[in-house]
Amino acid sequence: MEINGNTLILIVLILYLFFSSPGGNGVSSKYEYNQIEKLKDHLSSEYQTFQKMSFRDNFRNITGLKLSYQDIITNPSINATYPIAGKDYDNWIHNQTYELLPDEIIQKISTKVWNVSDNNLTNFYPPNITSTLMGQINLVSNNEYSQLRMPVPRYFEPATDFAQDDPPEGDSYFTDWPNYGELHNVTFQKGELSIQITHINKVSDTISGYGKKFFNSQDENWKLLRLRIEFFDKLESEKHTMNPIAIYDIRRGRILSMSQSSKFHSLFSLPHYMSVGGGLDKGDDETIFNETKALINDYWNGSNYIDTLTMGDLDTLYDNALSKCEYTVFLQLAPWNQFDKDQMKKIDEELNWPLGRPVNLTKLPPVSIQSGLLYSPDCGVELQFNDASGVRYELKVKTIRSHILLGLLLFAGQIYLLLCQMQHTNTPSSINKISFYSFSMINLVDGSLATLYLIASSVLPELYLPLILSSFSSFILASIFETRYLISIYTSQANERGVSIITLLRGNAENNDEERVTNADIPDDASIGASLYGRFFFSLIIFTFLILSSTSWPRKIRMTFEYICIIILNSYWVPQIFRNVIKGLAPRRERRRNNSPINRRQHQTPLLWKFIIGTTIIRTVPIVYVFTYSSNIFRHHRDPRFVVFLSLWLLFQLSIMYSQDILGARWFLPQHSIPEGYIYFKPVSLAHLAKHEGASKHTADCAICMSEVPVYIEEAEETHNIDQHSYMVTPCDHIFHTDCLENWMGYKLQCPVCRTPLPPI
Ligand SMILES: *[C@@H]1O[C@H](CO)[C@@H](O)[C@H](O)[C@H]1NC(C)=O
Ligand SMILES: *[C@@H]1O[C@H](CO)[C@@H](O)[C@H](O)[C@H]1NC(C)=O
Ligand SMILES: *[C@@H]1O[C@H](CO)[C@@H](O)[C@H](O)[C@H]1NC(C)=O
Ligand SMILES: *[C@@H]1O[C@H](CO)[C@@H](O)[C@H](O)[C@H]1NC(C)=O
Ligand SMILES: *[C@@H]1O[C@H](CO)[C@@H](O)[C@H](O)[C@H]1NC(C)=O
Ligand SMILES: *[C@@H]1O[C@H](CO)[C@@H](O)[C@H](O)[C@H]1NC(C)=O
Ligand SMILES: *[C@@H]1O[C@H](CO)[C@@H](O)[C@H](O)[C@H]1NC(C)=O
Ligand SMILES: *[C@@H]1O[C@H](CO)[C@@H](O)[C@H](O)[C@H]1NC(C)=O
Ligand SMILES: *[C@@H]1O[C@H](CO)[C@@H](O)[C@H](O)[C@H]1NC(C)=O
Ligand SMILES: *[C@@H]1O[C@H](CO)[C@@H](O)[C@H](O)[C@H]1NC(C)=O
Ligand SMILES: [Zn+2]
Repeated sequence: MEINGNTLILIVLILYLFFSSPGGNGVSSKYEYNQIEKLKDHLSSEYQTFQKMSFRDNFRNITGLKLSYQDIITNPSINATYPIAGKDYDNWIHNQTYELLPDEIIQKISTKVWNVSDNNLTNFYPPNITSTLMGQINLVSNNEYSQLRMPVPRYFEPATDFAQDDPPEGDSYFTDWPNYGELHNVTFQKGELSIQITHINKVSDTISGYGKKFFNSQDENWKLLRLRIEFFDKLESEKHTMNPIAIYDIRRGRILSMSQSSKFHSLFSLPHYMSVGGGLDKGDDETIFNETKALINDYWNGSNYIDTLTMGDLDTLYDNALSKCEYTVFLQLAPWNQFDKDQMKKIDEELNWPLGRPVNLTKLPPVSIQSGLLYSPDCGVELQFNDASGVRYELKVKTIRSHILLGLLLFAGQIYLLLCQMQHTNTPSSINKISFYSFSMINLVDGSLATLYLIASSVLPELYLPLILSSFSSFILASIFETRYLISIYTSQANERGVSIITLLRGNAENNDEERVTNADIPDDASIGASLYGRFFFSLIIFTFLILSSTSWPRKIRMTFEYICIIILNSYWVPQIFRNVIKGLAPRRERRRNNSPINRRQHQTPLLWKFIIGTTIIRTVPIVYVFTYSSNIFRHHRDPRFVVFLSLWLLFQLSIMYSQDILGARWFLPQHSIPEGYIYFKPVSLAHLAKHEGASKHTADCAICMSEVPVYIEEAEETHNIDQHSYMVTPCDHIFHTDCLENWMGYKLQCPVCRTPLPPI
């Protein structure tokens, strides 16, 4: 398949059109317009209810909050409507009569997670907790509690046909589907947990997201966070993900978060659920309520919540309702009592703008959550964990930056080694002995690294500079140095295409070999270059795409893919071993003995040992890092056994290459299976010479320099003092000066007289 620049541009254009989203709010039909208008009306009226709601009020007509746990105990088939006869809407008390949570859970939260009786505010908590925390999570129960019925308004449903303009009315209850519980069940007892915390400091009031502004009037005591919570079993066969908003209470180190979907408009419930733990003094609870309500108001107002809603938001809300359980999340941060407000401020400033202030960043403890509880009201699932921790984002970025810069050194080393190697093989006949496939594999890895670094640099703006540098240097390495070298290798081996391995093993074809004649037309460098660059970019795109999509595969498949890929891509010396066999490198002792000045280069191994060892080390170090350094930047799992296996495999390849150097490339082949290579230096018979006779009786004409070549003739005693290395006899029986033909072969591996391909020396 031929891929040229135009095709490539077309592919990129199609991908761009495919993945780019339409502008504005994404509404593309009358039906969708009505859907989004309904959502806006709905949320606006709920916001009005929320605005009027005081600390002592119950939720009235807010989606997902119409029922309490007690309601469902009293009447399991109760519909979530408003108003419910006999329900008390004018009080709010922190128990299951009013809340979504059963009393046992409320009890656990106020004793085990948030210490409600500790109201002294003596602990210090860091105001900025941007980080990614890792830990282990335990399932406490998944069928002990009743499941709350949470209906989804039917206007979220997609249109059933094109003619439909008005979304349906009413509610539907997914929770009543027969297999709903199984679909959303948590089936593992112990799993992995990851919580990514980012701060929402600024919001934009337009859909485009430009012009972000600060909105938080409570910034001293309250922060709005965005969490990304994932918990999954070890094999990642079952993964639960949510991406909710959270409120962080800086004075108490408490974090409250609730998932949002079209069946649970949890934003309006955060103040009530946050104000559970003033404990002794009820007035304190009311203050918490008032402050968090103000925070939500600020956010609603600052982000222009209603007017920035898009079809994407609507779809996300509906998808979440359909495919996920709702969760309420209660987290307690571990205090940083070794710091006070001023020190913390200095540390934060230093982290944001490193100027070398006198603070000990290395002594900064990890952000850690000492206890957490996740409860799903609609699935009745309860999970708990202790101790999830991770270092502050900036420190992590710092580590990553230094590791990436160390990686740059590896690129530089690889470029240097490659230049030495190119210098070493500067004639077509020496370059001919290099394996094209070995370098293709190396090239594929470096090229993919360049694209992966480039993609990463657009995802991680903090690391833009080091990532772009790495991307640039690996791109230079792959597309300039390696591809140039590949083109030379390919050119020098062009006359071997279509020739069987057995023929190649003889180093020479019969004179009347028709295959060779058809291949006599060796393409020029430019067309080889074009086709190789095409191949390079094509395999690069395919391979990068595979790697990127593999990150979303289940862990088992992903790991198998990863291991197989790594092993295959680290077999880069195997093709060179085969190449050595084909070119029939002689044992080292023989090569030394044969040390004529002309052929000195030919008697070294085609690859420099410096290059072989250096390249192997440079390519193994990152793998060793990823698989053994437990806090590596990719959060990759540790697997030292694989590293040992891989090192043994590489060592095996190296030792085979070394043995080929010492014992000859073909030592492991049975003796009789090895045909003789072609020898250019040999005596000539008179009969042979008669065909190409020069001016005098014992000389031939050299077609290159147009002068005479004295030759060693078996039958003529007087010519036996002539050095057999001073002339060369081609397979097509033409005779040239050694200097002349070697120079010629520096340009073309073709006989200058009859254009028959010449086996390289
Ligand atoms: C409750 O909210 C729904 C949706 O916003 C609305 O249609 C309904 O009229 C409200 N009911 C009352 C009693 O306010
Ligand atoms: C709940 O609503 C459905 C219709 O949506 C109705 O058939 C059912 O009787 C209602 N249940 C109760 C307990 O009111
Ligand atoms: C919740 O508190 C109210 C008022 O104190 C009380 O009447 C009700 O019985 C309590 N509910 C439960 C389930 O304890
Ligand atoms: C809660 O706080 C009180 C008062 O500071 C303390 O005595 C108690 O040990 C704490 N309980 C837990 C579980 O941390
Ligand atoms: C909390 O404060 C009260 C009075 O302000 C004091 O009596 C009590 O010892 C304090 N508790 C702790 C654990 O500091
Ligand atoms: C917290 O740190 C992050 C990362 O540097 C920064 O972007 C953010 O502005 C900080 N947030 C606050 C509230 O200081
Ligand atoms: C969830 O799974 C557990 C064990 O796998 C099972 O006992 C329970 O009945 C399931 N719950 C639902 C609602 O299917
Ligand atoms: C909370 O806000 C309400 C209404 O804005 C006000 O009446 C009440 O006094 C406030 N409570 C506290 C403790 O500030
Ligand atoms: C919302 O913001 C506008 C100005 O952007 C202001 O006039 C209004 O009072 C704010 N409303 C609330 C509830 O903060
Ligand atoms: C920082 O480290 C230095 C020495 O390494 C020490 O003298 C100083 O007390 C430390 N400062 C803090 C805040 O831990
Ligand atoms: Zn010839």
